[in-house]
Amino acid sequence: MRLLVCGGAGFIGSHFVRVRVCEHGDAVTVLDKLTYAGREENLAEFAEDPGFRFVRGAIEDPRAVAEALAPSDAGAAAEAIVNFAAETHVDRSIAEPDAFVRTHALGTHVLLEAARERELRYVQVSTDEVYGSIDVGTFTETSPLAPSSPYSATKAGADLLVQSYHHTYGLPASICRGSNNYGSHQYPEKLIPLMILNALHGDALPVYGDGRQVRNWIHASDFARAIGCVLERGAPGEVYNAGGPDELANMDVVRRVIALTGAEESLIEHVRDRPGHDRRYSLSSERVRALGWEPQVRFAEGLEQTVAWYRENAWWWEPIRSGAYRTYYEQQYGRALN
Ligand code: NAD
Ligand code: DAU
Repeated sequence: MRLLVCGGAGFIGSHFVRVRVCEHGDAVTVLDKLTYAGREENLAEFAEDPGFRFVRGAIEDPRAVAEALAPSDAGAAAEAIVNFAAETHVDRSIAEPDAFVRTHALGTHVLLEAARERELRYVQVSTDEVYGSIDVGTFTETSPLAPSSPYSATKAGADLLVQSYHHTYGLPASICRGSNNYGSHQYPEKLIPLMILNALHGDALPVYGDGRQVRNWIHASDFARAIGCVLERGAPGEVYNAGGPDELANMDVVRRVIALTGAEESLIEHVRDRPGHDRRYSLSSERVRALGWEPQVRFAEGLEQTVAWYRENAWWWEPIRSGAYRTYYEQQYGRALN
């Protein structure tokens, strides 16, 4: 296929590009604004690929979107848009929600208009957080939307806009909602890479509240393949949930990171809880399984590989950990990193 992948320089977007180029031979154009979370080096391995093209620009900018959708030296115009572009950190959405509204509401609208004008297939990448928190049981695609944070509320808004474009204009759009992703190339503001890098540096391991909140972990390569299934075989107008095979409380994740890094248990520090913190997420994935998808990576194996990747790829995280991330960390956690 010929794809426009928006937000492809980020964590999951770059896993998706790897899967599509290496396993399917797709021609891919990436449109990415390169925010603090976007990194062109995540795509360095495709620089020489004749079907690959990188365009720096924002999804809320119609000119950038038109440029990315135009035919180029890399080949004919895209036949589908897959949208990963987003502000993705809940804590940042609580501190400063503006960019979340701009990217999720305006950006998604610009992409939908571009898809409508050109009659393109469209897949919106979304999150289990749009359903809110669930104490027991598991969310299905028909569960009501009940987002808790500015992040999840603006993602839910974008999902509703996507569904309206299918309903009103017949746009062949589908939505794929994932549970908590982990793996290589994840920005260290998120729980798992934060704990791995802090453990490797002897920094405190900040656990919000009692640490008994539960997340449903999916390896980014598994989520990427689920999105590919939805792109190829998903029905227009449908939502597909892709949940990982393992649910764990945050404290259990932190203890596993400690075991894999050899850090001291005394580094664990319970800190002030996140305002409006969702207690538990859980997703049932029957609908995407019916398309032929199965998660391949269990958490124990995936976490071990992820810790090894961060150990072996200091070139990737050193510029982050020595740059603006330090200032963010001090503001968020009230202490400096080692
Ligand atoms: P990320 O923060 O690592 O990457 C986001 C990418 O989007 C970055 O490359 C960034 O530069 C780019 N971007 C941000 N705003 C943009 C804009 N206005 N225009 C163009 N590019 C822009 O995020 P991620 O964790 O890879 O998440 C990707 C998608 O998957 C998001 O839509 C997110 O909501 C969804 N998702 C994430 C998870 C998770 O656990 N990380 C789980 C389920 C769904
Ligand atoms: O569920 C999917 C979502 O998962 C995605 O849509 C989001 O983009 C992604 O950021 C993630 O959201 P969470 O809020 O669940 O992920 P985060 O890594 O921020 O936190 C995971 C859990 O760990 C959560 O209960 C908060 C807790 N936590 C997090 C951090 C950063 C801590 O206890 N300490 C921390 O320092």
